[in-house]
Amino acid sequence: MRTQEILNKEYLEKNDIVALLSTQEDEMKLLINKALKVKLARLDNYVHLRGLIELSNICRKSCLYCGVRSDNPNVERYTLSEDEVVECARLAHQLGYGSVAIQSGERSDKEFVDKITRILHRIKQIDNGSLGITLSLGEQSEEVYRRWFEAGAHRYLLRIESSNEELYYKIHPQNERHDFHKRLDCIDALLSIGYQTGTGVMVGLPFQTLEILADDLIFFREKDVAMVGMGPFIPHPDTPLYAYADQIPSVKERMNLTLKMIAVLRLMMPEINMVAATANQTIDPMGREKAIMAGANVIMPNLTPNKYREDYLIYPDKACVSDKPEECFSCLDIRMKAIGHEILYNAWGDSVAFTKKTK
Ligand code: 5AD
Ligand code: FES
Repeated sequence: MRTQEILNKEYLEKNDIVALLSTQEDEMKLLINKALKVKLARLDNYVHLRGLIELSNICRKSCLYCGVRSDNPNVERYTLSEDEVVECARLAHQLGYGSVAIQSGERSDKEFVDKITRILHRIKQIDNGSLGITLSLGEQSEEVYRRWFEAGAHRYLLRIESSNEELYYKIHPQNERHDFHKRLDCIDALLSIGYQTGTGVMVGLPFQTLEILADDLIFFREKDVAMVGMGPFIPHPDTPLYAYADQIPSVKERMNLTLKMIAVLRLMMPEINMVAATANQTIDPMGREKAIMAGANVIMPNLTPNKYREDYLIYPDKACVSDKPEECFSCLDIRMKAIGHEILYNAWGDSVAFTKKTK
């Protein structure tokens, strides 16, 4: 079937998705243009911001791709104080970002859980709860997820990394701390508690096929998630997966494949929130813009105090590490205007798909 015919279909089957993911050149452009059109028709040209606060790089896990894995001794470990996190949130509010996202290496001890709960209460006090709060703090018990929800978090990101169990265990150690089924259970718990739940995968992993990527997209559709984040895999020299760096697609291919994943998902789930991940900008200076033009509608500018950013390198050469928050602010506004998009300030920017579902 020709690309145009597939693009005219109401419902994409797995073989359609694989065909779209294999498009090149002009056919790929058709796909991207269609996704942009669908996004503009359903969500307008708005881009939502989430000020990213990287709370700590201390992690109990050791994912084989991640630079801050516990088995990497070359990382200087840090944790922001409660006050530092709240300060970042205040800055987000001042800059007109309607939302913050708190991300951290995974910890589940009581001290950590209580600290997050207190931080949530304090952020909620800023201007009468005007900031939206997304958490990205890994796997936790259902009870902890519930506690944080009650304390004011309303979105949670937990990437599945790959929905293919076999591939999952090729990119994670096989032990109880990295259990594929536990991860699935966590995503289900988040959905049932009522979080706007986000998940996602890395694109261009060793051993990853187009069929696996198509299954990832179908997984997002079946779970009916509200948000998705997908970015290119970037091999980190201090991690075991670096050994396969010469067996993965080229930078350009990984970028294009990420754009195709975003575009196809926009066709499949027209009203979800999709982030233009920083990893895109890391491998291509125009990566974030390209992701927005392929169907993404969220950007997460970094608000972490600059002195810590060098230590939160989940992958090498991360973009914007030396930019001051105020610089990111004006840079982003200009960059989005240049591609005909408009940042929506002072708004939570909830997923339209989620809002409709829960009405
Ligand atoms: N390359 C690209 N993305 C990565 N992540 C972790 N390590 C890498 C890497 N080497 C992504 C994972 C994780 C998110 C916070 O960052 O998908 O969920
Ligand atoms: Fe920290 Fe994967 S290494 S969650």
